[in-house]
Amino acid sequence: MYSNKVTSIIKTSALLLILLLQSCGGGSDSPNTTTDPIITDGTSNSSVADANFTSAHFSGSENCALCHNGIQSSTGEDVSIETAWSSSMMANSTRDPFWLAKVSSELERNPQLKEVIDDKCTRCHAPIANVEAKFSGAAVELFGEGFVNPNNEFFNHSSDGVSCTVCHQIEDDGNLGTQQGFSGHFNIIDLGVSGERTAYGQYQNPSINPMLMNTGFRPTYSEHISTSEVCATCHNLKTPFVDSDGVIASTDIESEFPEQMIYSEWEQSVYATVAEQQSCQDCHMPSVDGVRISNRPINLAARNDFSKHTLIGANSTMLEILDSNREELGVTANGFDEAIAQTRLMLESSADIEVLNQQIFNQELVVQLRITNNTGHKLPGGYPSRRVFIHFTVNDSAGVDLFESGKMNADGSIVGADGDQDLLSYEPHYEEITSQDQVQIYGTVMVNTDDEVTYTLLRAASYVKDNRLTPAGFAKLTVPADVRVAGLAFEDDDFNLGFDVITYRIPIGDASNVSFKAELKYQTLAYGFIKDLFLDNNNAEVAKFETMYNNAAIRAEMISVVEGTVN
Ligand code: HEC
Ligand code: HEC
Ligand code: HEC
Ligand code: HEC
Ligand code: HEC
Repeated sequence: MYSNKVTSIIKTSALLLILLLQSCGGGSDSPNTTTDPIITDGTSNSSVADANFTSAHFSGSENCALCHNGIQSSTGEDVSIETAWSSSMMANSTRDPFWLAKVSSELERNPQLKEVIDDKCTRCHAPIANVEAKFSGAAVELFGEGFVNPNNEFFNHSSDGVSCTVCHQIEDDGNLGTQQGFSGHFNIIDLGVSGERTAYGQYQNPSINPMLMNTGFRPTYSEHISTSEVCATCHNLKTPFVDSDGVIASTDIESEFPEQMIYSEWEQSVYATVAEQQSCQDCHMPSVDGVRISNRPINLAARNDFSKHTLIGANSTMLEILDSNREELGVTANGFDEAIAQTRLMLESSADIEVLNQQIFNQELVVQLRITNNTGHKLPGGYPSRRVFIHFTVNDSAGVDLFESGKMNADGSIVGADGDQDLLSYEPHYEEITSQDQVQIYGTVMVNTDDEVTYTLLRAASYVKDNRLTPAGFAKLTVPADVRVAGLAFEDDDFNLGFDVITYRIPIGDASNVSFKAELKYQTLAYGFIKDLFLDNNNAEVAKFETMYNNAAIRAEMISVVEGTVN
């Protein structure tokens, strides 16, 4: 009896608060009706969404900012949670103009699969809208009248991206970290409209009432939130694919295309072992001590091992584009400069390049390099458009250029990279480089059911090349097929277990006293992916992104450099 009464008081005060917020113009669950009606052409547009919505199962990030911003570590570092998260790619996963363009292009190329594409592509990139629409029986659609349309009832929900109440409500349902739980099959419990909801956290015995009364969410300790398996549900992704007639050719999950397998790669690395355990959170949510994790109540004790919500990866390219097109994309967060700076540090830590051997012999400069991956998965990781390449230059003592492989052009293409000139070809993996038109590119090349190179996700059936650097401990001969090394790197004995050894053998005639420089570089948007996407620039989303890309400054980032001189 007593506890029922307490709950109902809590519920009433939560309701009052919501009503109060609504009367202040925020907290509304319905589309913004206070402004003039918005005329839309059915594409995404610039309207700024409200992040202080509440819905049956979720709550906007702004509602959490009230207490979880304005907090510091014991050294005085500001570790405000919503602020850190807001300039991450996950917070902007629905505003991401590359994503919008790509979904639009896939829809155009496979119109018969509209329902599958709308559902699949919004599941992880617009998770609140996807889940809430399904619970309420509403349409799961992105463009037109769909989620990105400000008149859609889930516009605010979709715009909040991978938000607080998505990750923190993922249930430990026994499927996390398994095939059943991958590809966005996370489980958020359908409680109907009135249920009290749970926010799982890493701390035992959290102070409950302030948050429960304010948001209707009960902070609850659960071990699973700290595991890589929580990330795996969205970061291991297989996609169905179609044949040249547009008919689905993948028969079951096993046969689907492994588009992103970061978790499975990690599982094969030393970081998944007890001795060297490092979870996704350990690297992507660095920890600090002495944080009062909520700015109220004032008597709250500080906690250690607080995980910062920076969620930095490698995508400085898109962070720059989000920041430079704020109005057009409806971006409100600040802090992109800081996020880009942190991304550069992350990339610098991601690999080492070192000289194993350097000599001149028989009028040839021979330089042997070793590249070591320090990340917890393949490098580059994640979406297949990523690539890492080596820019190798040689000059004589007078400074005259003798050799250059891997020079990047202003448009992001790489000189000598076959796939950048001809979309149907690609640059193979090399053990040895002897001429300027050969470039070492670590990345993936997708092929369709007819073994032709493709950039269309729903046509991609397998990889003809996957020479991304493996993580430490990853044994290429024994790993499962869906994370296998593909193409010539599989035959290369010096490519395995976290590193690659490559030799440059350059004819230099009579020159002596030559200098060389090897730069290891990272590129988010391999040129072939961009060129293929822009073939569809009759499509409004693609055209919009093409303009943003052409105006952007970042084409690649430096990971590591070595130099040497040989007499
Ligand atoms: C299982 C979850 C999941 C699903 C389903 C999913 N994605 Fe993604 N997507 C991701 C993750 C995670 C990343 C980030 C990977 C990275 O940064 O390397 C991503 C990245 C991308 C990117 C690159 C964005 C950028 O800024 O570089 C594009 C484009 C994209 N996805 C398109 C799609 C399309 C099209 C679909 C539907 C066919 C889709 N995604 C479905 C999880 C998903
Ligand atoms: C990508 C998933 C994800 C998103 C999005 C996310 N969190 Fe977290 N959060 C986590 C994980 C994982 C932990 C536990 C980390 C650990 O155990 O090392 C955590 C921990 C926390 C904690 C405990 C203190 C700490 O940082 O360790 C609070 C409070 C919290 N999150 C609030 C929020 C709020 C508020 C938002 C939105 C602004 C948010 N989270 C967004 C995954 C997420
Ligand atoms: C009125 C203030 C307030 C608001 C608003 C608020 N929280 Fe909290 N939250 C707290 C307090 C207080 C704690 C417990 C702190 C402690 O015990 O150290 C907490 C703890 C947490 C934890 C950690 C639980 C654990 O056991 O580790 C998570 C996760 C969390 N909040 C998420 C959220 C999310 C998501 C939102 C937005 C929907 C939100 N909070 C809104 C005050 C608030
Ligand atoms: C609900 C699905 C979902 C969950 C759960 C999730 N992610 Fe993501 N994550 C995404 C999507 C979608 C993107 C790509 C956003 C984009 O590029 O538009 C992404 C991108 C990222 C990136 C790339 C950022 C960059 O700047 O390159 C990192 C790093 C990342 N996630 C880490 C994590 C970690 C760590 C966890 C677990 C604590 C996690 N994610 C859980 C969906 C998810
Ligand atoms: C040992 C540290 C480490 C561990 C463990 C780790 N990562 Fe990473 N991760 C990195 C570094 C460094 C980068 C940047 C270089 C790159 O793109 O690989 C990165 C990149 C990424 C990216 C790609 C961003 C992009 O723009 O393409 C995603 C997504 C990601 N990590 C998710 C995860 C997930 C999910 C896990 C757990 C299964 C994980 N990481 C485990 C260090 C780590």
